[in-house]
Amino acid sequence: MKSSRRNSHAFFVSVVIILLSFAPLASPQIPPQPKASTFAWMDSSLSPDQRAELVLQQMTLDEKIQLVHGTGWGILIPGNSIPPRSNLGAGYVPGIDRLGIPDINLADSAVGIRLAAVQSRYATLLPSTLALAASWNLQSAFLYGSVIGRELRDQGFNMSIGGGVDLAREPRNGRTWEYAGEDPILAGSIVGQLARGVQSQKIMGDIKHYAANDQETGRDIVNVVADKRAMRESDLLAFQIAIGISEPAAVMCAYNKFGGLYACENDYLMNQVLKKDFGFKGWVVSDWMATHSTTRAALAGLDMEMPGDGFFGAPLKKAVESGEVPLARLNDMVHRILRSMFAAGVIDYPPMPRRVTDPFRGLEDAQQIAEESIVLLKNAEGLLPLSVARVKSIAVIGSHADVGVLSGGGSAQVDAPGGNALDHKPGTAAWDNPLYFPSSPLKYIRKKTPDAKVEYNDGKDLAAAAAFAKSAEVAIVFVNQYMCEGRDFETLSLPDHQDALVQAVAAANPRTIVVLETGSTISMPWLPEVKGVLAAWYPGIGGAQAIANILFGDVNPSAKLPITFARNEKDLPHPQIAGIELRRKVKSQWDRLPPFDVNYDEGVKVGYKWFEAEKKQPLFPFGFGLSYTAYSYSKLKIDEKQRQVTFAVKNTGARAGAEIAQVYVQLPAAAGEPFKRLVAWERVPLAPGESKTVTLSLTPLYLSIFDDKKNDWSLIPGEYKIHVGPSSQEAPLSASLHIHE
Ligand code: BGC
Repeated sequence: MKSSRRNSHAFFVSVVIILLSFAPLASPQIPPQPKASTFAWMDSSLSPDQRAELVLQQMTLDEKIQLVHGTGWGILIPGNSIPPRSNLGAGYVPGIDRLGIPDINLADSAVGIRLAAVQSRYATLLPSTLALAASWNLQSAFLYGSVIGRELRDQGFNMSIGGGVDLAREPRNGRTWEYAGEDPILAGSIVGQLARGVQSQKIMGDIKHYAANDQETGRDIVNVVADKRAMRESDLLAFQIAIGISEPAAVMCAYNKFGGLYACENDYLMNQVLKKDFGFKGWVVSDWMATHSTTRAALAGLDMEMPGDGFFGAPLKKAVESGEVPLARLNDMVHRILRSMFAAGVIDYPPMPRRVTDPFRGLEDAQQIAEESIVLLKNAEGLLPLSVARVKSIAVIGSHADVGVLSGGGSAQVDAPGGNALDHKPGTAAWDNPLYFPSSPLKYIRKKTPDAKVEYNDGKDLAAAAAFAKSAEVAIVFVNQYMCEGRDFETLSLPDHQDALVQAVAAANPRTIVVLETGSTISMPWLPEVKGVLAAWYPGIGGAQAIANILFGDVNPSAKLPITFARNEKDLPHPQIAGIELRRKVKSQWDRLPPFDVNYDEGVKVGYKWFEAEKKQPLFPFGFGLSYTAYSYSKLKIDEKQRQVTFAVKNTGARAGAEIAQVYVQLPAAAGEPFKRLVAWERVPLAPGESKTVTLSLTPLYLSIFDDKKNDWSLIPGEYKIHVGPSSQEAPLSASLHIHE
């Protein structure tokens, strides 16, 4: 399957080119559904569960089976027959016409809608979700999801596949940029708001990949070995929070195994934790081709096989007829699907495909989110912001900064308007081929500085790049790390000799600034030699404008790291990615590896918790980010009864800005957790000299430990040390909160 999938991309590109040349506007043709107003379940005063039950009573066994699997990857797989009503997204489940139940058309849409060029349309490329997490801004996360939801409606889809919330346990994971960092509370809150934003547009949302799909190496075979308490307080907590906030239509179970069983046939993950403990009411859909059985999967809680019918088609019907899978279980699957359709509003408010001609209509939102997500990591001697009035010449170097900004690859890849900015061939992106979006940093830097000499060098020849840098007053080097689903990075080093490029440029020009377009964290052997570093992640279609606005101070950076930057691999819990040796022995990235384990014996100590407990100093800590102004913290007060923390933040500098004030808690010793946890934060916009009082409530769940024996959360009595400040490593304010029995 996997190897054919790769070949299929070449085929796919040709199909798209053909489609684009012969059908300039292949608008989705969704036939009108039968008049449904007479059905009892169309009474919207009934609850989604009541409505689902009414439909279910009318359904035949075949209709039920029809609803629990679908087709997918349509034109990506050569020879696939594409159902006429498929909207050509990642998946399609035919509806039940006679009962007025519409089709489900699913589109991959983690950072914008994938495969939009197939429809001769384009979708907004938002910054990566890791970038979004760097904004720590829940309203922006909601906006992010709303942009995706709105565009899905316009394109005739009624379900989004996105919402990745696997924790960044492994920063070399090739999908780190599709997730929201290493902290369960930050990641869960951001992704929960994102999915809520999607669903605010009456589109069904999902959360994925459940659970602990924290590396791509051997993702379809690797077995995650981890302590249950640790998982409930880390990876599974992120899911719990995201699902609690968004009440998504679906949760996608992952490729990997967990505790010896595939995630999609894992009773503990699906039945016990997700459905029982989290109270999830939607349906569990398998990741694509991640269903491995009929009865075992059905009884463990899987509700939909995607794509294909190998397990949940005829074999499931047979299993139900023989009583091996109780009819009640099939009814539960169908109920969950129908109730989610009613709850999201896709039956009452079906999407109406519109012809939208402006491919850049989401740019302003994307740019705003990018501006909130670019982290200023270093600013020696106050070199930044650059002064438009004073700077006379700038050398812009590397990473195709003359034409565009990089995006991430795989199933979250969005098509670029006009095609890859490197070669302008319109159509859909190929797998594992770095795609640049037409947002040129060079152009926007020039726009800011019409009187300066701003030139570009591609950075391929180090000596030439150094000489070029020497000739300018300031050198800005763009470096990148292209990540793509399906493979991990082996190291934290920048690929393609870019470290040497930065070193050469910095040696030639003492005023060197580095702009990172990366999917995850990197090591920076050249850090002492450069004056400035900006982490711009994959910044989306408004990326160049946002980068220029930060470089020149039109926007004051406010973002903070949602992930720890380690100095090198040796400091990580796993200096080497599990299975990487096995991977080196096979030819293609899609070749199946022999079974192996990844043992997360660092437990709950993900990211900054690991560094703190192990007393290792990272390169840049979680929660860190500089600003062009300065902030001070004072007046910490703890209200023990209300469990509230109050403090003041003041902008002591001369520029307006926004400070992300963070609250961390160290639990009583009895918890056995020798590190702090993030428990609350607030993004505080402040004018120069302005001070604001912030009051934050401490959510009991975030202070609790998971008691394995009771299978429940427990708030242990004792002294909780509260630390308030600008990052996980700086706490200008501290106090204690006592929790009594
Ligand atoms: C990915 C999912 C994606 C699905 C459909 C899988 O390979 O893991 O994230 O939604 O494909 O394209």
